[in-house]
Amino acid sequence: MKVLKIFLYVLVVLAVAYLAVVIYFYSQDPFVRWDWSKINVNDVCYPKHFLWGTATAAYQVEGGFSNNNWTWWENQKKADGKPTIQNNDKCGRADDHWNLYPLDIKLMKQLGVNAYRFSVAWSKVMPTPDSINHEALKHYQDVCDSLIANGIEPMVTLFHFTYPLWFQQLGGFEKQENIKHFVRFARVVYKALGTRVKFWVTINEPVVFAYSSYFAGEYPPGKTDPQLTARVALNLLLAHQAVYKAIKSMPRGEGKIIGIVKNVTQMDPYRRFNLLDNLIAYFADLNFNQAYLRAFKTGKFHFFLPGMVNMKQDMPELPSTLDFIGLNYYSHNAFKFTGNIEQSLVALPYPGEQMTDMDYTIYPEGLYRAIKRVAKLDKSIIITENGIADSLDNRRYMFIKRSLYALSRAINDGYHVRGYFYWSLLDNFEWNLGYSKRFGLYAVDYKTEKRTLRQGSKAYVETIKLWKNKCVRKN
Ligand code: NOJ
Repeated sequence: MKVLKIFLYVLVVLAVAYLAVVIYFYSQDPFVRWDWSKINVNDVCYPKHFLWGTATAAYQVEGGFSNNNWTWWENQKKADGKPTIQNNDKCGRADDHWNLYPLDIKLMKQLGVNAYRFSVAWSKVMPTPDSINHEALKHYQDVCDSLIANGIEPMVTLFHFTYPLWFQQLGGFEKQENIKHFVRFARVVYKALGTRVKFWVTINEPVVFAYSSYFAGEYPPGKTDPQLTARVALNLLLAHQAVYKAIKSMPRGEGKIIGIVKNVTQMDPYRRFNLLDNLIAYFADLNFNQAYLRAFKTGKFHFFLPGMVNMKQDMPELPSTLDFIGLNYYSHNAFKFTGNIEQSLVALPYPGEQMTDMDYTIYPEGLYRAIKRVAKLDKSIIITENGIADSLDNRRYMFIKRSLYALSRAINDGYHVRGYFYWSLLDNFEWNLGYSKRFGLYAVDYKTEKRTLRQGSKAYVETIKLWKNKCVRKN
């Protein structure tokens, strides 16, 4: 009898502990599922001074690159002999946005947007560590002038996954002493564009870059080293901090709005009440989201992958180097414990949801969750990217409507979001996936460079029209 009592007692304690842990994980960023059949996605409203934009990045659209870490990477082979880029694609001429930007600005006008986020190609502006290509700078000045003349606010990203090959050869962001080169580039660009550009992004998705380049080996330099991943992630935060301070100290720098872009992907357990799935999702989240959000909130960086890395660094100035947080949101991931840690850490599409053409699902509720989460930084928020790869164009309309509904709902609930940039204006070069993914509001025929507005993109045009006509909030 006594043994049975003890047994029951232990069982109850274990069950309570189990539940407590699961509830703790859940409470960090509660899972949300909306019943879309009961939602009117046109019931939306946005602030009066709202940035409606599209986003691109230099390497993905401009064409004409050389001496760049990605042009080098495109010509390498993986350890198994396979090409580094899907279908052995090369970036090449891409969308020829370098030459066709006047046309593309017209296309922006046709969408009704009032903002454009693009990046400046470091390898074109500084072909060697000590030289500046003034023609390249003039090109970006022309782009800005043309945008402004068309009533479109430019937002500049300084580092969007690519840099000059010479910087990679110096060790890139693996070495703290190399940050000075990035700061120098930022100063050069700021000097050329500072009077034209108010919104600045220092670094796009530092975690995606560090992880893809140094953990997964899918981006150049193709390394798979957890220690280096942590070091690069840390150095990118230091680089952000240094560039923020550099720009602020330059003429009119004080008035600039400078931020970093964080991709927030929710890491959800595959089985909601499975403790091991929860644990795996917790560690994935810790190293993809929480470590960075915490660093910007508290000034303490801690990268911890049990058995692989444990890196801590105090960065007391970091929290004061953010005028806004740029949020990229695409989807959530699911994690399932399989008995093998490495295998369990592979992100899965969340079960039971419709797929995009990428290896993740459509989950617009996650945009609301991501906004709620980054709002903990107490900074204003700009959605710097959100979009869908949909080559058949049979999900884009619904995706945009639902995402913009989630955005409106978050704003209505009091979250301070200043703008939304759709990814992307055009189909483009999707890094290691080459030209296989179709993210564009405009479809691009890469043979002729002809751009065609997709049917599904009309959801964006309609919503901006709706906002212009009647659904403006007072604040
Ligand atoms: C985020 C990246 O910033 C961008 O370069 C990429 O194309 C999109 N995600 C889509 O995957």
